[in-house]
Amino acid sequence: MSSIINYAKKVVTPSQKLQEKKLCIAKKVCGLISESIEKYPQVVGFELGGSYAKGTWLPEKADIDIFVKFSKKTSEKDFRNFGMKIGFQSLKKFKPYTRYAEHPFVEAVVNGTKVNIVPCYDVKKGDWQSATDRSIYHTKFMTQQLSATMKGEVRILKKFLLHIGAYGAEIAKEGFSGYTSEVLISHFCSFEKTIKKISELKKGQVIGKSTKKFDSAIVIIDPIDSNRNLGTAISIDSLAKFVLASRMFLKKPSKRFFSKPVSSRSMKNVDKIMVVQFRFKDRSDDIIWGQIKRASNALKTQLELGGFTVLRNSSIKDEKENAALIFLLHAKKIENSLIRVGPEISSKDHCEKFISANSKKSQLMWIDENGKIKSLQKRKYSDARLFLQNLLKNNLKNSGIPNGLEKDFKKGIKIIDADKVTTKSIKEAIANIAVTDETIFH
Ligand code: CTP
Ligand code: MG
Repeated sequence: MSSIINYAKKVVTPSQKLQEKKLCIAKKVCGLISESIEKYPQVVGFELGGSYAKGTWLPEKADIDIFVKFSKKTSEKDFRNFGMKIGFQSLKKFKPYTRYAEHPFVEAVVNGTKVNIVPCYDVKKGDWQSATDRSIYHTKFMTQQLSATMKGEVRILKKFLLHIGAYGAEIAKEGFSGYTSEVLISHFCSFEKTIKKISELKKGQVIGKSTKKFDSAIVIIDPIDSNRNLGTAISIDSLAKFVLASRMFLKKPSKRFFSKPVSSRSMKNVDKIMVVQFRFKDRSDDIIWGQIKRASNALKTQLELGGFTVLRNSSIKDEKENAALIFLLHAKKIENSLIRVGPEISSKDHCEKFISANSKKSQLMWIDENGKIKSLQKRKYSDARLFLQNLLKNNLKNSGIPNGLEKDFKKGIKIIDADKVTTKSIKEAIANIAVTDETIFH
């Protein structure tokens, strides 16, 4: 175990050269922000935050987060507007763009590094006015709590989570955030102790102290705000991956948990997959991901109401404005008839209603061994493709697809079989639900 962990430590520690490069970028951006905040009396200062400030960043995935602090008296409107203006002005040389969380913020890529300029209020601990106000306190807390060794352990944990596809709290991943990784290490002290605990995870496990009750699959309390549960953002899928991978690693520690995954996945189960492919008009990541996830779940529900069994579903978007909703079905074609179960013969009124409503449609009507009336009827759609085609063409409004996607859908959707997909990002997403994940089921 220790030799593997030593190996991991080497992999996750940024080289001297990279550290110098990041420092150079951070200094440059801080200089630009200093200049542009001068015009705004509402701004009381700014601070480096996130993993860069705490020394818990991964070499391959290190953004620089900078928090611009506004006086708590600043109006919501000024906070929003000036926050954006400062971001855009400071980063104007680097093609800045807007991103959305609770409030919008500005991001740009500076010499290959993503830089976020995020407005927050300068408040006392607990008097939160916006969701980002806690971050300054996160940085303070972790800087005090984490020794140099523990920072290394955070990096190892992040790398492990990244490898198994459970790192990142953004909606696309619904995994463990960088800050959550820090909380786990500050709680359990080391990577090894953390994965031991996780490998023995109990239902409804609570990590940390809280006064409130939460009902997520795992509860991880934010140490600087006992009312905040970091587990809310973690999907069952990400949690399960972490649990299974931890068990696997403890049973047989291996370098492969810290190296690039070898992707030699041969496609399976393609004959059971339907893909709804379309193009979308560009919008913020946070918004489009929410929309396509909801759309995928809505169509899953519709397919199930139509008699199809959906084993798994997912959604994907790429940088080239391609998006797809993906469904792994038990079968694409189902029986062409269905059985409606009616009331028992003792309920007189119900029987009458059931008989008059169903007798014309019935291929057969009978009484089963429990005394219930049953009716065998022709199914309208027994082919998933035809079912989806009809739904999206004639009943889009009632399908549960978010309104925000309607325009994109109306421009044209393609319902295609998995083996006809040529777009790389969509092919990968298909493999993700159609092939057993070897990193956790080995
Ligand atoms: N943050 C948070 N909860 C989240 C996401 C972010 O509290 N779900 C706060 C944390 O204070 C975090 C900061 O915002 O430190 C910056 O967010 P992010 O860049 O996503 O996380 P990092 O901790 O910087 O991790 P990474 O190394 O992945 O950038
Ligand atoms: Mg960060």
